Amino acid sequence: MARKLRVGLIGAGGIAQQHMGGWEENEQAEVVAICDIKRKAREDTAGRWSVAKDALFDDYEKMLEKVELDIVDVCTPNAYHKAPAVAGFEAGCHVLVEKPVAISADECREMIKAGKEADRLLMVAQVLRFSVQAQTLRTWVDAGLVGDIYWGQCSCLRPRGVPRWGQFIDAEASGGGPCYDLGVHVLDLGLYLMDFPEPVAVSAATYLKLADKPSLMKHDPGKYTVPEDMAAGFIRFANGATLSVQTSWALNVTEAATGHKVILCGDKAGLQYSPPTLIREENGMLINSVPQVPLDVPGDGFVGEIDAFVEAIRKGKPSPVPGEQALITQRILDGIYASGEVGEEVAL
Ligand SMILES: NC(=O)c1ccc[n+]([C@@H]2O[C@H](COP(=O)([O-])OP(=O)(O)OC[C@H]3O[C@@H](n4cnc5c(N)ncnc54)[C@H](O)[C@@H]3O)[C@@H](O)[C@H]2O)c1
Repeated sequence: MARKLRVGLIGAGGIAQQHMGGWEENEQAEVVAICDIKRKAREDTAGRWSVAKDALFDDYEKMLEKVELDIVDVCTPNAYHKAPAVAGFEAGCHVLVEKPVAISADECREMIKAGKEADRLLMVAQVLRFSVQAQTLRTWVDAGLVGDIYWGQCSCLRPRGVPRWGQFIDAEASGGGPCYDLGVHVLDLGLYLMDFPEPVAVSAATYLKLADKPSLMKHDPGKYTVPEDMAAGFIRFANGATLSVQTSWALNVTEAATGHKVILCGDKAGLQYSPPTLIREENGMLINSVPQVPLDVPGDGFVGEIDAFVEAIRKGKPSPVPGEQALITQRILDGIYASGEVGEEVAL
């Protein structure tokens, strides 16, 4: 077997633990260095996943200079994705970066450019796509069962779910609220199943009605600096299709309204997630088909995401979640914030 690909982790917080689990499962790659500005985060992660103590860094530039790496895995807060990703490319590495790819389309363009110049892959960690349920929907689309998808709805609503860890509510580190934390997952899944049509306009509203109230959310109101706790957008695409997206960290809804939900309607059939459901007419009746897909199989989620990245690198395949797709998602997210601010539709 060829030598293992050498991975450097940048940002050893919450989500990095899931990534470490994925790297651990992959036999063709190993994490050989960890960088985090917080000593406890890098030492705890190294201890938990048996990474050598002399391969821990507080500065990713130093890590890239001292350790020979094939891949950097960027798990820092959103505003700190671009710089380490570009530095990783400049050091000749492939780059896996957490979602959202960045905090603006311009940053995403810089990342794509750096990857192209280095001739290395950029993959955005849109983990939802790698669920068995999402792949089941993709199978139906690929089999031509759905036809032209002309309308859809993506939502990820939390009634009371403002993150209390990390820097999610800090605008400087996160760039945005539930749009970047939750909305990006369902938006990516919807766009992926629609084959990423070109977006032309977004009309959106962003609200901050509940999350900055300390009595409700149990945090210092001054700390909540992201612009929204709820956002709703309507996207028009060049091919005539439209998609609505709703996301919240705080909203007066029941639990039944929560979770990752995607509805896509084609001229042959409809799709719903999750569970994966195909809705089509048979013998004059509308039939809902829900296959008995295994809910927790090896290779699902983070393991599947990392396996797909390693396989693409090994076999010279395209990135499983390329920067160009993330750029479309990011342009829409930029459009949601821009439209929310001006209160009217914005062209993309
Ligand atoms: N896929 C998912 O479901 C999912 C879930 C949660 C978070 N995320 C994404 O993962 C990213 C990180 O979120 P998290 O929950 O792990 O946050 P976190 O705060 O738990 O961890 C981030 C870590 O990055 C470190 N860090 C910050 N700046 C750094 C720098 N310049 N160099 C090195 N380390 C640095 C911090 O010290 C911290 O330990 C975000 O982009 C978030 O959107 C994805």
